[in-house]
Amino acid sequence: MGSMRYFPQRQDAGQAQAERLRGLGQLAASIAHEVRQPLAAIALNADAALRWLDHDPPRLEQARAALALVASAGSHASAVLRSVHGLASQSPGSHHTFAADDAVHDMLQLLRAELLQHAIHVEIQLQPGRPPLCADPVQFRQVITNVLMNAIETLRHTHGRQRSVLLSSRLDGGMQHFSIADNGAGIAPQAAGRLYDALYSSKPGGMGLGLAICRRIVDAHGGRLWHAPGAPHGSVFHFTLPSQ
Ligand SMILES: Nc1ncnc2c1ncn2[C@@H]1O[C@H](COP(=O)(O)OP(=O)(O)O)[C@@H](O)[C@H]1O
Ligand SMILES: [Mg+2]
Repeated sequence: MGSMRYFPQRQDAGQAQAERLRGLGQLAASIAHEVRQPLAAIALNADAALRWLDHDPPRLEQARAALALVASAGSHASAVLRSVHGLASQSPGSHHTFAADDAVHDMLQLLRAELLQHAIHVEIQLQPGRPPLCADPVQFRQVITNVLMNAIETLRHTHGRQRSVLLSSRLDGGMQHFSIADNGAGIAPQAAGRLYDALYSSKPGGMGLGLAICRRIVDAHGGRLWHAPGAPHGSVFHFTLPSQ
């Protein structure tokens, strides 16, 4: 994504206006991209809650659990709105120390309905006893979600084997290392080298913003984001973020 400068200097009025409109267009696209998943989680879980309440007798525990997810997705969506705006204006983000693996579990909960819908098996290998992560918690959730969404999107089209995702975390030379492996189609040859470019997508209707946003977030934390082919299928995305 190009830098978003809302108030550029030393330009004539026309150029400045065009630049501002371009920045606003990028901001709108990024917001649309980043709130899509939490909004989908709200709709799916609200529907589920209504169905539990329509049972005779109503299944209150299940309805309550679904509504708790609606609330959590709603507050994540509004946090994401603030975060995307902050990223666009290149503000440093709000760094906290927090347990990364709790955040990983929260995001998996929000993606649960989609994972179930596409019969995707998730395996989790989180190294216990790691120190807390030192990062912006909302941005960390955005990276996990965007990489997982890509895994779900490739796996939706994968047939003839159990669809699976392996999510792992470990401490690696003072940095926390996360990896998300899927056994989907792997990186298309025409996509190699362009994955992290804003607006590049090999999918019909894809916005091509997920990995560009992830790279921006990880870079801003002094971490690294990269990928490798999976064995025997799919791909593995890795990223590192600073530990306390
Ligand atoms: N897990 C994956 N498996 C295969 N290809 C992937 C995967 N993740 C990303 N890609 C490739 O990277 C491109 C860019 O991803 P992204 O920036 O998230 O945009 P989008 O998902 O909208 O296409 C995708 O269109 C796809 O070609
Ligand atoms: Mg994507």
